[in-house]
Amino acid sequence: MDITTVFGTVIGGSNPSGDTTNILEIFLILLVLVVLGSFAYAGILAAPWVPMRSQDIKSFLKLARIQSGQTVYDLGSGDGRLIIAAAKTGAISTGFEISILPFIISLIRVIFLPANLKSRVRIKFKNFFKADLSDADLVYVFLSQEKHNQLREKFEKELSSGAKVITYIWPIEGWMPSDSVAGPSQTKLYLYQR
Ligand SMILES: C[S@@+](CC[C@H](N)C(=O)[O-])C[C@H]1O[C@@H](n2cnc3c(N)ncnc32)[C@H](O)[C@@H]1O
Repeated sequence: MDITTVFGTVIGGSNPSGDTTNILEIFLILLVLVVLGSFAYAGILAAPWVPMRSQDIKSFLKLARIQSGQTVYDLGSGDGRLIIAAAKTGAISTGFEISILPFIISLIRVIFLPANLKSRVRIKFKNFFKADLSDADLVYVFLSQEKHNQLREKFEKELSSGAKVITYIWPIEGWMPSDSVAGPSQTKLYLYQR
C-alpha cells in the first residue's frame, strides 16, 4: 500500500483517490517547502540552525554572570536553549528566530516551562537585523565569522554602555574580548563589554 492509498483510506474513506487525498498531499508538500524554505532563508541571511552544544551552556552562564532582571537577547535563538538557560538565572530573555522548525520547537519548550519561568521568556518570529537592542544587558550570537563582524556596527550603534556581547566559536574581529573560555567541547566563547 503506497502513501497515497494510506492517506486516501484515512481521509477519503472508501475513495482512496478522491479530491481530499490530493488536497492533503498538496498541503503536506507546501508545508515541507515552506519549512525548508525558511531554513534556507535563515542560512542565507545569517546562519543555518546549528545549536550550541549543551555541555557549553554552563560555560556561557559562567561568562555571562547574569543578574536577576537583566535583559538578554539571543540573535537567532534556534530551539531556545540559551534563552531558557538565561531565564533560569533570573534574566528576562528574548530570542529572535526566522526558521520555522526551530521556532516551533522553542515555542513548545516554552509552553512546558513552569509559569514563573515562562513569563520571563519571549520568542519572536523576527529578523534580528531589524530588532532594537538598545535595552540589552547581554546579547548572545552564534552565527558565522562574517555575520559576527557585520553585527559589530549594529552593536556599536545600539548597545548602551556596559552592555555585554557573547559570541560562540567566532569572535568579533576588530573588537578586543574582555574574557574568553573554552567550553568542555573545546569550542570558544568570547565576552565583550561596551
Ligand atoms: C547557528 S544557529 C544558533 C542557534 C542558537 N542561538 C544556539 O546557540 O543554540 C543560528 C540561528 O539563527 C537563525 N537565524 C539566521 N538568520 C536569522 C535572522 N536574520 N533573524 C532571526 N534568526 C536568524 C537560524 O535559523 C538559526 O536557528
